[in-house]
Amino acid sequence: MILVTGATGSIGTHLVRLLLDRGVPFKALVRDETRGRALGCDVVVGDFDDPGSLAAALAGADRLFLNAGGAQPVDGEQPMIRQQRAAIDAARAAGVSRVVKVSVWGAHQGGRLAEGAHWEIEEYLKASGLGWSILQPSGFMQNFITGAGAFTADGKLAGAYGDAPVSYIDCYDIAACAAALLTGSDGLGETYVLTGPRALTHAEIARELSAALARTVAYAELSPDELAAALRAQGLPERFADDVAVLSRQVATGSLEATTSAVRELTGREPRTFAQFLAANAEALRAGLVSTVH
Ligand SMILES: NC(=O)c1ccc[n+]([C@@H]2O[C@H](COP(=O)([O-])OP(=O)(O)OC[C@H]3O[C@@H](n4cnc5c(N)ncnc54)[C@H](OP(=O)(O)O)[C@@H]3O)[C@@H](O)[C@H]2O)c1
Repeated sequence: MILVTGATGSIGTHLVRLLLDRGVPFKALVRDETRGRALGCDVVVGDFDDPGSLAAALAGADRLFLNAGGAQPVDGEQPMIRQQRAAIDAARAAGVSRVVKVSVWGAHQGGRLAEGAHWEIEEYLKASGLGWSILQPSGFMQNFITGAGAFTADGKLAGAYGDAPVSYIDCYDIAACAAALLTGSDGLGETYVLTGPRALTHAEIARELSAALARTVAYAELSPDELAAALRAQGLPERFADDVAVLSRQVATGSLEATTSAVRELTGREPRTFAQFLAANAEALRAGLVSTVH
């Protein structure tokens, strides 16, 4: 039996649908039972901050999909580190054979945004004695639907990435890779960098968004400091805005430009292009809402 965490999130909703389609036994850990029931699968109510609920949820589970938790620092601490370590401890106590963890491409010690937190959790997982597989995705295509600080108040796509292309990936493909690892025997002790099929500049992304929305979405190239100020003005935390500015300088050097064959290797098919992603999420895009399963 598989336990899926982050089941109501951008990756988790797709993973739930894929596992339902495969007919494999699994349950989803959810914080809110009503929202969980809407997923259409077996659910167990729990919280990363409640270790007792993790132990109860993992009873009888032999595989764990480990994703998400609190991403914003609280009092200088990344809650995700404590939360995912608690889940790894509970998985070991429950006799889980493999943990499939969502990390981030470029996870490294002391990294900005979630890069440092994911590195610490990766190290903890590798030292746990549990079987593991790690997914390191590039930026999510879903960021362009959820907003995630990507747009100015007057609807322009905003960034400080210059002409550097980014190999954004659809969370649907991350979920498909996770489903393959959770239901098969390959990939033990492997880390996979997951990307879309082609890296796009933000000017190209703005053109694709314009075509999908049948209105012009301009791209506003900002300096990293202007980008941070715009994020702060949108109410995002100071530290987050500063970290995005630092990260944008790295991305502008082409740090997220490469593409990998990992999605094809794990799923047997190519990852979705940005145009395919937009077509699959047309309704949510027009509504400006968070993507659900399509
Ligand atoms: N955005 C990017 O471009 C990007 C790129 C690479 C990697 N990542 C990584 O991807 C991860 C985000 O994945 P995602 O997009 O699927 O997340 P998401 O859409 O933000 O969803 C977060 C999920 O975590 C659950 N959750 C939050 N706090 C919890 C808690 N205390 N206990 C139990 N569940 C909790 C949420 O449940 P509720 O519904 O109850 O809130 C939700 O299901 C992060 O680790 C991030 O670092 C992001």
